[in-house]
Amino acid sequence: MYLCIKRSELKPGMYVVCHGRGTFDSPFVRVDSVTPYQDKIDSLIPPDAEFVLIDGSRADVISTAAEALSETASSLQEDLAVARQLHADALDYVKQFMENVRHGTDINVGKAACLVDRFVESVLRNGTAAVTLFKLRNFDEYTYTHSINVSILAVLLGKHLGLGKSSLLKLGLAGLLHDAGKEFVPQHILNKPGKLTGDEFRVVKAHPLAGFNLLRKQRDMQVDVLQAVLEHHERHDGSGYPRGLRDDSIGLYSRVLAIVDVYDALTSKRVYKEALPPAKALALMYSMRDTQFAADDIDNFIRCVGVFPTGSLVRLTGGEHGIVMSINPGRPTKPQIKVVLNARMHPVLPRMLDLEAMEGTPEAQDIAEVLNPADYKLDLEQFLSA
Ligand SMILES: [Fe+2]
Repeated sequence: MYLCIKRSELKPGMYVVCHGRGTFDSPFVRVDSVTPYQDKIDSLIPPDAEFVLIDGSRADVISTAAEALSETASSLQEDLAVARQLHADALDYVKQFMENVRHGTDINVGKAACLVDRFVESVLRNGTAAVTLFKLRNFDEYTYTHSINVSILAVLLGKHLGLGKSSLLKLGLAGLLHDAGKEFVPQHILNKPGKLTGDEFRVVKAHPLAGFNLLRKQRDMQVDVLQAVLEHHERHDGSGYPRGLRDDSIGLYSRVLAIVDVYDALTSKRVYKEALPPAKALALMYSMRDTQFAADDIDNFIRCVGVFPTGSLVRLTGGEHGIVMSINPGRPTKPQIKVVLNARMHPVLPRMLDLEAMEGTPEAQDIAEVLNPADYKLDLEQFLSA
């Protein structure tokens, strides 16, 4: 049984017979293939194809492929509930971890690996739910939340790069433990608002090696994880530390950590600075292509989190305000938005808008501006469950 659906309705595992607009200028083009992961769909179906014809009778293919791809269809609300518990457990672990490092007691790497396993499951299940929630929970707890955010963002980027589950587990563990060496850096240096002195900077620059030395004493710690911890401040142009490595001599996991580490730092509130809105942080990082970061790495990250990352507060051209709930890899400027505030920033009954689906209709809207929730003293997490 053949079904004609919109390209945006295509799900991984569906059997695509052909795609196109079905017009004289753009007839249907034969495909005969199972749809891959969401972020690889562009390689199979061009973004300008309006419709796809799927074979609904290939149900066996649909279920098997979908299972293999771990893309379980689940509601965002369910995923958010799971993510809340996961975030609470991760916070407990990180607090305990820091205390153990300070006191020189066992840091329980096995527990960290279990947590990361849950991060990976969450990202494979619904890439954006946990990331959105975790990023909105910054508050003043940067010390605790940063390593959690880096871990889950690294897993998200790793998935986008097509890494398998065992690689994602190592990448996530490296993310969670990447700043372990900072426990040896005095707080007054870490939280110093102004420029560091030469001596202070030398102390900070010692943290990747200190973390590496701490973790390599742990039983069963994988070499890839240790390398990423050691190299997460190396930079594409050789300006990083501790070894001033360049280009491809920096490991893949290290480059992933470097990007998500900087992105999380820029988008987080610190004692001495406000958080940058995600889209502005991406624009800043884009300007570091070919210097701090390899151009391909930055491009991949922007494709992964979207031009307007999930959790961004935006004003629509119609005047209302909403939160970006899921990105649209085929049309990065047309994500799904949850409208939560009217033009005067007063709460409204929340409703979902799909900017791509609305295109060409009288209700069509675009994103007019990205706003900083801190400017309006808004806690966006309260709107996620509404
Ligand atoms: Fe670091």
